[in-house]
Amino acid sequence: MQPFIRTDAARFFHSDAHFNDLYPTEITDLARRHWTPLPIARKAAAFLAVGSNPHVLDIGCGVGKFCLAGAQLSPNATFYGVEQRKRLLRHAENAKSSLGLENVHFINANFTQLDFKQFDHFYFYNAFYENLDGTDKIDDSIDYSAELFHYYNRYLHRLLDQKPSGTRLVTYHSLEEEIPRDFEVVESTYSNLLKFWIKL
Ligand SMILES: C[S@@+](CC[C@H](N)C(=O)[O-])C[C@H]1O[C@@H](n2cnc3c(N)ncnc32)[C@H](O)[C@@H]1O
Repeated sequence: MQPFIRTDAARFFHSDAHFNDLYPTEITDLARRHWTPLPIARKAAAFLAVGSNPHVLDIGCGVGKFCLAGAQLSPNATFYGVEQRKRLLRHAENAKSSLGLENVHFINANFTQLDFKQFDHFYFYNAFYENLDGTDKIDDSIDYSAELFHYYNRYLHRLLDQKPSGTRLVTYHSLEEEIPRDFEVVESTYSNLLKFWIKL
């Protein structure tokens, strides 16, 4: 099957710099620290988009970069992104329309509000890290605290614990507090910053 992408939109996927053209400067200024580089998004999406129409969730999707790159690469899968900041999701939706992608959906919520039964596989780029002191923040629109960092990690751990054997997870820059013991690393790259897990 051909990707759903509009033919004139393929140019945005040539490089991170081209992808940045989808967004205003206030968003691209955050890219280096906060949005997944395209080669990593593609590698992660290829690992997660297995089986027949898998539902892949990006936990904390920001402006949608992982989801959009995955949706372009894997038309057999449906990508979902959950994001607590409404402002970022508006940029994700605009980018989605510019690209003409249909197999991607964005949800404005805290991930704790989602029913994880709806999703098969997961991508996680250290979404809770900005709660820690001394880390780069996206903005000052939310409260940060170490308590929240640990609370979210424990919450995600519990949700992943309930997933069946065979569930796939990709983590980028994770401190791994959120990963249950029965998830096994099957590949690790980018100096161990990018890890591919399958639940036993
Ligand atoms: C490091 S950025 C990664 C963005 C995107 N996954 C990517 O790879 O380009 C983490 C995002 O997670 C979001 N986030 C953090 N905690 C969240 C929560 N509890 N629920 C939903 N989104 C959250 C942040 O607002 C931020 O946009």
